[in-house]
Amino acid sequence: MTTATARSKPAATTRADQRPVEIRVRKMGKDYAQTPSYWFDNDPFLSLFFTAFSATLPVGEKQFIHSVRLFQERISDPVLREEIRAFIGQEAHHAKEHDSFNRLMAERGLSTDRIEQRMARMFEWIREHASPEQQLANTVCAEHFTAMMADYMLSKSPELMEKMDPAMRNLWAWHAIEEAEHKAVAFDVYRQEVNDVWRLRRTMVFISLSIAGHVTFDALQLMREAGELRNVKSWRKGLKQLFGRGGMFPAMAREYLDFYRRDFHPWQHDNRQSLARARAKYLGETTSSATLH
Ligand SMILES: [Fe+2]
Ligand SMILES: [Fe+2]
Repeated sequence: MTTATARSKPAATTRADQRPVEIRVRKMGKDYAQTPSYWFDNDPFLSLFFTAFSATLPVGEKQFIHSVRLFQERISDPVLREEIRAFIGQEAHHAKEHDSFNRLMAERGLSTDRIEQRMARMFEWIREHASPEQQLANTVCAEHFTAMMADYMLSKSPELMEKMDPAMRNLWAWHAIEEAEHKAVAFDVYRQEVNDVWRLRRTMVFISLSIAGHVTFDALQLMREAGELRNVKSWRKGLKQLFGRGGMFPAMAREYLDFYRRDFHPWQHDNRQSLARARAKYLGETTSSATLH
């Protein structure tokens, strides 16, 4: 595993307290040929739900990078500039890794490629019609979702990872760790260059509805293709895991609502300890990365 360190010492800026972790770029380059299609707890719904999510990531991550690059040259803070470079490096590797997995699933007859093409058309339209400020706001909101999901997997429900096929566990753990590390980068760029709270709130409402719509549609599509549409047992189990008591979405509720607060910052949700534990467990990184300033 190759690593490049974006920042190895505390930042000498006034916002140093809001950048409490090192952001590292790591390559995975794993082979998923042996990964079963039902890689999550041997369950169709859970596996296909997260496979559908994976299908949106390569083009999604590229759009995140694009939106931050629109502002990159305006940033003079050397720490934030370094963090943007690390953010871009991490997201580029995520896109590549999920692409390897998605291609394999497409070869097995799941339409991860169609999901990706649909997302690509949507982002093409956004690039043509939305302002740079709006594109960055979209990214900030989507990054809050990835940060909440990462925190759920790493902190709130780490036993969930144990139910995954080992290669997929490594993939999602690595991705979740890096999403947690860079969760404030797009936000800090937005705050410095746009700083329009109401735009962010409006965008969050829209992005939430959009994600819910896409995820429902994509999960239904993959379940139909896999011949599992009428697998009531799997739907029940999966929906309980996502929406039931202690499920992923209810567990995110507080953090989600916090986003609408005027003084919100991603590092107010301080998950440095579970992040450090996850880095040791999944990446074998024993050096303290969750350093307090
Ligand atoms: Fe990512
Ligand atoms: Fe991200």
